[in-house]
Order: sequence, then C-alpha cells, then structure tokens
Amino acid sequence: MQLLGFHDYRHQAKRLADTLGIEYRQIAVHRFPDGESKVTLPIELDDELIICRSLDFPNSKLIELYLTCATARHHGAKHITLVAPYLCYMRQDIAFHPGEAVSQQIIGAWLGQLFERIVTVDPHLHRSHNLSQVMRGAETVTLSAAELMADFLAKRPSPPILLGPDSESEQWVKRIAARDGLEWQVASKQRHGDHDVDIRLPDYDFNDRVVVIVDDVVSTGRTIAQTAKALKQAGARTVDCLVTHALFAEDSEQVLANACITHVWSTDSIDHHSNVIELDPLLATALVD
Ligand code: R5P
Repeated sequence: MQLLGFHDYRHQAKRLADTLGIEYRQIAVHRFPDGESKVTLPIELDDELIICRSLDFPNSKLIELYLTCATARHHGAKHITLVAPYLCYMRQDIAFHPGEAVSQQIIGAWLGQLFERIVTVDPHLHRSHNLSQVMRGAETVTLSAAELMADFLAKRPSPPILLGPDSESEQWVKRIAARDGLEWQVASKQRHGDHDVDIRLPDYDFNDRVVVIVDDVVSTGRTIAQTAKALKQAGARTVDCLVTHALFAEDSEQVLANACITHVWSTDSIDHHSNVIELDPLLATALVD
C-alpha cells in the first residue's frame, strides 16, 4: 500500500505515511494559466492506495482528485481510500431557497462513486446524521477529534468552561466536555449572510470565567468573533477558541484579532499556523487492518 499526497497537505500526509509505515509519494500538480490543472502520478502503483488531501478551498482540488483517481485506476489501482480530514460542501445540506443545489448530497454522491473508502474527521453533519447516507457506494469512516481536543484542554493551567456558538456545535462541545467533566453551554446563532451573524449567549454567569469557544469550522470568523465579543461584555476573564477545521477565509484572522481572543487553536485537518493538535495517530487507527 502506498500513500499519495499533494504539496498543499504534504507535511500531514507524510506524517500519516510514517505512522502507517508505508511509502509516501507526491502527486505533481501544474496549474495552467487558464486555471486548468494537470496532475502527474508516479507510474508504479500498488493495487491498494491511500490518497490524502484535505478539501478546504475545494473546487480545483476536487477536479485534481478526479484526475488522480482516474489515472491511478488506469495504472492498475484497485482499491483507493480517500483520507480527507476536512470534507468540503457538507454545510449546504438542504435547499434553503427554491432552486438551490443540495451540495452535500451531490458532492457526497460523487466522491462515494470515486473511492472505495472515505475517511474524514468531524464532518459537518447536521440534518444528515450519517456520512454513509451522503456518500453512497463507498465505505465511510467518520472519526472525531473530540478526545484529542479534550487531551489538549486537560493540559491548560485552569479548567475552562466550554461554549458552543450555535446549536450545531452542541454535538462536539458536549463530547469534549464530557471526557473530564468540564462545564459547557451552547449559545444561539442567527445568520443573516456570509459576514453577518448574531449570537445570543445562554442565561449563564460568565463573569470572571475562563472560556473556550469550541466549534467545528472557522470560515469568515464572524461566528467566533461575535461570540467572543458577547462573552467579553458578559465579563469573561479570558476567551480562547478551539476549532477542528481552520479554514480562515478572507480577513478572518484580523476579525478574530479585533475580537480580543487570546488564543486560537486548531487541529491540523487544514494546514494553518493555529494548528496544535496532530491528527495522524487518529487517522491511522482507521487505516490499519
Ligand atoms: C456552522 O454551523 C459552522 O459550525 C460554523 O459555525 C460556521 O461555519 C462558521 O462560519 P464563520 O466563521 O463564517 O462564521
């Protein structure tokens, strides 16, 4: 078995290959001036392959995965596992307005047909509860970083209270808090647009408390920033933030800096300077027989 990776996620992919004790090979990607991609694979391939790439900012990456998969099969690969610690297009899980594509179902079904097995970490499943409902055709493995996040928080100088910014985050906050019996709460969120969210804190005394906001994704940073501002107004002593998938789109870093957040921590599901939790030991558990 070989593990194939791409330049943008090479550190994590190489570490995973080392953890598994298998060969790492890198796929070369050339982007033409008109935006098309050319991928070049090693031509001596094993029957069984792992392709490891996280799917943040996914549009070109999806096409490159498709080209990779088709070329690998042409060169004899029989069983291909996709390891995508961050899985894209999971949040658009219904048509919120008439005519909208339900991207989760469409992209999910496509990936399900491309790969024999798909391994991911804490996908944004809200109205669909199970990845196998989304990626029909492939064996799916959904891992959770909750245990590793609980390990990380256990090393902090004082036990924090965890706050999820919206009802969708409750599944993760609850699980992380449960491990060491931390207090936890969930706020409510109303989204008016990509950059416009309102957060209402729960009826709880945050005065002088050490609070860690926990969420699965930071994209524009507005959800976390509004939550942090509300917590500061409520008298929180410190506000930190722990997320699984550090997308950090656009000006999100500046937005978070302006919101007086002391630390932003993340897993390395997406390569980012906030990464403090390495996922390769967790991913490896799904890949050893
Ligand atoms: C949504 O339900 C997710 O869990 C995140 O809260 C959301 O994607 C964060 O987006 P943003 O950083 O753009 O506010």
